[in-house]
Amino acid sequence: MDVWYKVLNEDCIKWLDNHSEENIHLTFIDPPFRQGKDYRFFDDNQPEEKYWNWLEDVLSKVYRITVKGGAVYFMQREKNTENVLRILRKTKWVFQNLIIWKKKTSAIPSEIRYSKQYQIIAFATKGERPRAFNKLRIDLPTPPEYKYGRSNGVYVTDVWDDIRELTSGYFAGDEAIRDNEGNRVHTQQSPVALLLRIILSSTLPGDIILDPFAGSGTTLVVAYQLKRNSIGIEIDPEYVELIKKRLSHLRPADNIMKYYDYYRYTHKLKEIWPAEKIPLVAEQRRLF
Ligand SMILES: C[S@@+](CC[C@H](N)C(=O)[O-])C[C@H]1O[C@@H](n2cnc3c(N)ncnc32)[C@H](O)[C@@H]1O
Repeated sequence: MDVWYKVLNEDCIKWLDNHSEENIHLTFIDPPFRQGKDYRFFDDNQPEEKYWNWLEDVLSKVYRITVKGGAVYFMQREKNTENVLRILRKTKWVFQNLIIWKKKTSAIPSEIRYSKQYQIIAFATKGERPRAFNKLRIDLPTPPEYKYGRSNGVYVTDVWDDIRELTSGYFAGDEAIRDNEGNRVHTQQSPVALLLRIILSSTLPGDIILDPFAGSGTTLVVAYQLKRNSIGIEIDPEYVELIKKRLSHLRPADNIMKYYDYYRYTHKLKEIWPAEKIPLVAEQRRLF
């Protein structure tokens, strides 16, 4: 099966306006969160109303080009849950799950409320029934209070507490892309394991996946290895270069095969995860 990817340096709104076909099977939306970060091409301090109107526009345009039963996964801060659900409803998406991504990193402390330790991912579809939903099983370690281990894993639920956020800290590992000084090249880089779960659950080989805020290109890197086609749109030309480099030399840290065993109890796993060898560079190559 021939697999393609497109990396486009554009404002996603413009691209969405010009795309007329209804052929997208899954969209992953991980926009800037309006929390004062230093994006080169985005005002992350803009007024709240303007920000949510803009995201509503994105969701509505994505809806138009999504196939019947196609899915959207919309990632946001937990404090924005109300706005997320409101704009999904307004743009006609049918709500399926509010996924709690409990990051394995330390919580953000607060003096007046509980410390925050999760992010939300709203999963919704165009129409009541998803056209594809693969029930994944994972080989979770046996909890200490259990007498016996499970012999065939457990289904993935709406709480994801087994995927670590990429951090800059001491335990950061190889996956985060760094420059020669060791600084993160894209501080919002999503983990490969997160996109692996989303794409495996809600698509089939040969499908088309859209990422309108492609960032460092994690969606495309995972889609390619799973034999799904992908379109990544990114407004910042430096990140577009990063995505192209990342895709042309897949690093061992981006290799999804290290997770295959974890999902091995999934029914007909081979059909949704064509586990062919994809050429990777021999060592951990620096992209910068
Ligand atoms: C939170 S990051 C996405 C990170 C991504 N999930 C990854 O794995 O690297 C959001 C990205 O959206 C880009 N962006 C902001 N406004 C945009 C727009 N109008 N069109 C396309 N990209 C945009 C930013 O430059 C940034 O790279």
